[in-house]
Amino acid sequence: MLIFAHRGASKAAPENTLKAMQYALQMGAHGIEFDVIQAAGQCWVIHDAWVQRTTNGHGRLDQMTQAQIRQLDAGEGQQVPTLFEVMALVGNRCVLNIELKGITDVALFLKQLDSACDTLGIEYKQLLLSSFDHQLLAQLARLRPELARGALTASCPLHYAAFAEELDALSVHTDVAFTNLEFVQDAKARGLKVYVYTVDEVQDMQRLKSWGVDGIFTNLPDRALAWLQQAD
Ligand code: G3P
Ligand code: MG
Repeated sequence: MLIFAHRGASKAAPENTLKAMQYALQMGAHGIEFDVIQAAGQCWVIHDAWVQRTTNGHGRLDQMTQAQIRQLDAGEGQQVPTLFEVMALVGNRCVLNIELKGITDVALFLKQLDSACDTLGIEYKQLLLSSFDHQLLAQLARLRPELARGALTASCPLHYAAFAEELDALSVHTDVAFTNLEFVQDAKARGLKVYVYTVDEVQDMQRLKSWGVDGIFTNLPDRALAWLQQAD
């Protein structure tokens, strides 16, 4: 079972900051999940469209200049990092799950992603692009079929994982609150991986593992990895 640090190791450090990524690497996470929103011609690693929950600023990210975003404190003196900065920090050390939250210019996103991969020597096989926006995933499937895609859902769809198969996704990413055995079995029968968020309790980890779930997103990768070591 793969252990993804959710927004980095987000219980140990402020979510989606370089510090949270550094902790996740130190803990030995197999992958790191983080959220990306475009603003001012750049890809920023941040969860919300509005900055006040996670920073000392106010207002919409996409109404700010790069200089204004750079001045935000995302906690413990951390800046809101760019996609490039996170990729540079992580390098080849684990899977990068880039959750696309606010991509308004797909061509620019792909250009910046490709440039980062070239500069940093990161291969597509290390990347997993996920989104709740399935139209965006379909667009990416047309533009870059070789990039692995994860289809997020916050519910249990009527036809289980059929939508993800239609998107030719590698994986379905489901909410622990709605993930049931039937969904997992349906997804696996379609050849899809099942990754579940956000799983911080050992009891949930145990149940999901017994169902054959392939990975979990957790705010506590250290706890999950310690559990996994004794479970295997
Ligand atoms: O990618 C898994 C999970 O992060 C999706 O929900 O709101 O935490 O980004 P959210
Ligand atoms: Mg996310």
